[in-house]
Amino acid sequence: MMTINAETLVCATIGYPNRASRSPVMHNAGLRHLGLPYVYLAFEPRDEDLEDAFRGMRALGIRFFSVTKPHKQAAMAFLDRIDPVAKAIGAVNTVLNDGGTLTGYNSDWIGAADAIQEAAPLSGKKVLLLGAGGAGRAVAYGCRERGARVYIYNRTRDRAEELAREFGLAGAGGPEDLAREKDWDVIVNATSVGMAGAGSEGGSPAPEGLLRRSAGGRPGVVLDAVIFPRETALLKAAKAAGHTAVPGVRMTLLQALFQFRLYTGKEPPAEVMWRALQEAL
Ligand code: ATR
Repeated sequence: MMTINAETLVCATIGYPNRASRSPVMHNAGLRHLGLPYVYLAFEPRDEDLEDAFRGMRALGIRFFSVTKPHKQAAMAFLDRIDPVAKAIGAVNTVLNDGGTLTGYNSDWIGAADAIQEAAPLSGKKVLLLGAGGAGRAVAYGCRERGARVYIYNRTRDRAEELAREFGLAGAGGPEDLAREKDWDVIVNATSVGMAGAGSEGGSPAPEGLLRRSAGGRPGVVLDAVIFPRETALLKAAKAAGHTAVPGVRMTLLQALFQFRLYTGKEPPAEVMWRALQEAL
């Protein structure tokens, strides 16, 4: 057990609301395991206090912030530097404080791409991405970056088409186009359909029959970015159809591993952090 003393470095997740965050449990388990002199907390600044939160980070020498809803876009205004990838995605979820210089990164795209690639490589694969909101942007970037052909579908078709143009994706469309899709290798749900409390719990964003039309009828990979419930209707159906079902919490873990490396410079104990995350759910 690490002693907390005058040398201890402070890290935190900031979001609003944020008391249900599992990040402190997950990060602290990894930090404790390696005996590193950090403590990881949760803060909940309101929108109007966000700038002060970043000033406080500088003034107090807080080493690291993980930024979550609703601050991922607004945070960009209060940083000294923004990594080009985070700029392209248009959101920052990771802030490192190096001697008072705050640099923003995005690890969401890494979490998504790594979660898929634990199951199968993305290069050359056909990905159907459902959802063109904030989460969709990060997933689109990640899959494209790893060499996949990304087709994006969104309830509001214009939003999908706009993102496809911006990122140079392979295709875009609305729900009717998605209903005709086939020969896919990977499906990612980045909509809130199926999320507890979103009014669509128990629903699936994949139209009837789509899960049966994977490339060559082979098992594909289905990732649901929804975290609660852990096993969504989409993931249940994917599993029943013989595909590899990847839960959203895998993204949570994998993006956190990137963050851990960034602020500690050490290789994180992935298994320890995964167990802590699961126990906290
Ligand atoms: P996030 O940051 O989680 O991506 P967001 O930017 O609000 O949140 O995006 C929510 C996504 O879920 C959008 O793609 C949204 O579609 P619209 O652009 O048409 O709003 C999608 N979404 C939400 N509820 C939906 C529903 N009932 N059916 C289909 N798509 C839905």
